[in-house]
Formats: sequence, C-alpha cells, structure tokens
Amino acid sequence: MNLKGKVAIVTGGNSGIGLAIVLELAKQGANIVIDYVAHPEATEALERQVSALGDRAIGVQADVSKIADLQRMIAAAVKAFGRVDIMVNNAGVETRTSVLDTSEAQYEKVLAINLKSAFFGTQLAAQQMIKQGGGGRIINITSVHEDWPMPGNAAYCLSKGGMRMLTRTAGVELAPHGILVVGVGPGAVATPINQSTMSDPALLHKLNAAIPLGRMARPEEIASLVAFLAGDGASYMTATTIFADGGIMQGSPGL
Ligand SMILES: NC(=O)c1ccc[n+]([C@@H]2O[C@H](COP(=O)([O-])OP(=O)(O)OC[C@H]3O[C@@H](n4cnc5c(N)ncnc54)[C@H](O)[C@@H]3O)[C@@H](O)[C@H]2O)c1
Repeated sequence: MNLKGKVAIVTGGNSGIGLAIVLELAKQGANIVIDYVAHPEATEALERQVSALGDRAIGVQADVSKIADLQRMIAAAVKAFGRVDIMVNNAGVETRTSVLDTSEAQYEKVLAINLKSAFFGTQLAAQQMIKQGGGGRIINITSVHEDWPMPGNAAYCLSKGGMRMLTRTAGVELAPHGILVVGVGPGAVATPINQSTMSDPALLHKLNAAIPLGRMARPEEIASLVAFLAGDGASYMTATTIFADGGIMQGSPGL
C-alpha cells in the first residue's frame, strides 16, 4: 500500500471524481477527510466504505469558497489524524454560460468554488505541511479546459485556467519545502456534473464520437492517476498538469 499512514483531504469528496479519489486513496492505505457541502448521508456511507478498507475517514461539512470553512477543515484533519500529507482540491461547479450572458453572481460563484478554494486550500494545506515538516502533495483537479476553450462555459474555463497558473506558481514556490503541486486535467468523465449530457442520447453520441478513445472516462480512471501522483512514484513531478482525456485535446475523430 503506497500511502499507508498518510492523511489526505479531498474537497467535494462525496460524489463523482472526489468519491472515487477517496476510495482509491483509502485502498492505498490513507486516512481521509471527506469535505462536502450537501448529502451528509452519502458522506456517512462513504466513511463506512473507507472503514471496510481498513482506514479511517471523517466527513467535514465545509463550503470551500469560504476561507473560514477551509481553516475549519484543515483543523479537523489535524485534530483527527495529527497531520495533512495530501490535499486534493477537487470541488467544482459550472454554469454553462457564455462570455456574453454570464451574470456577476454566476461569475463569482464559479470563480469562488473552483479557483479561490484551490488557492486558499493550497495556501492553508501548505502552511500546515511546512509546520509539520516532511513535505506533502497538493493535487488540483483542473480540466482540459485549463487550456482548451469551451464556448458557452466561460467562467468555468477561466477558473480552470487560473488553477493551471496556481499549480505552476505554487509548485515553484513550494518546491523548497518538498511540497509538490500537480494538476490533473480530466476530459469528459461520467459524473453528476455531466448528467444533462449523459441523459440525452444524441448529445452523448456526439460527445463519444469526438473522443479518440470513443467514450467518457470512469471516475476511477481519474482517481488512479491522483493516487499515483500522491505516491512515491511521482516524487519528481511538480508545477505541471497531467491530462487524462482519452486523447480529445489532440483531435476529434467524430467532428
Ligand atoms: N466530470 C467531468 O467531465 C470533469 C472534467 C474535468 C474536470 N472535472 C472537475 O472534477 C471535479 C469534480 O467534478 P465531478 O465531475 O466529480 O462532479 P460532481 O458534481 O460530482 O462533483 C463536484 C463536487 O463539488 C462539490 N461542491 C460544490 N460546491 C462546493 C462547495 N462550495 N464546497 C465544497 N464542495 C462543493 C459538490 O457537492 C460535488 O460533490 C470538478 O472540479 C470538475 O470541474 C470534471
């Protein structure tokens, strides 16, 4: 088990990619703080699944767009497990609005939940890692849209582009402390965020046809990459993003 004795925090951890990351890190031996905003019952079920794997998990209800909540989440991790070794900034939302029609409220919501949370999540986790010593890993779940425009999803692309530079800047700044910062950029993944596409057969067919591998990713296929990046095998990777996108950024065979 690659992560035995490590302590990980996963934001937005009770659904989709976050849930798969929680389970994969637990399979590798980590104890986990599962951050969530809604569905405490899903968090409790996940805590039980982690226990069944032989590790410990606690759910912490914290809105990652609020710095006070992030501070409370880090404090809860230290209180329960004594330290923080792995911080996964995963929580995210989108509004599917364009440059022309995004409202101020939509802009502020997406930027706060996706980017502000990752910035201060990185800052607070790094402060704790420096205090305890021994380095650490910060993994930012960005998107192919950190680099690839998605017309009609403007604020989301902006937020992920910001996470790209957060990853690079924090990776360079924190390297002397042995804290590695890496982005994971998924393509299309079968999770609740894509429910509207997945429940429309014509849209789903169009999407699958645009992906060289011919299908969306399973959340577990992103989680396995996160577990690798959290482990010893990724000890020389920082300030960059690894894409897991089925090849979509390199060409769309169906378009
Ligand atoms: N599914 C995809 O195709 C895809 C592709 C690229 C990147 N991503 C990214 O992966 C991450 C996870 O998304 P997902 O696909 O699992 O969808 P999801 O909707 O299942 O997960 C998002 C999670 O964030 C949580 N969240 C929302 N607002 C929050 C807040 N204020 N505080 C704390 N948590 C909050 C939600 O409750 C949810 O658990 C997101 O950052 C998303 O942008 C997803």
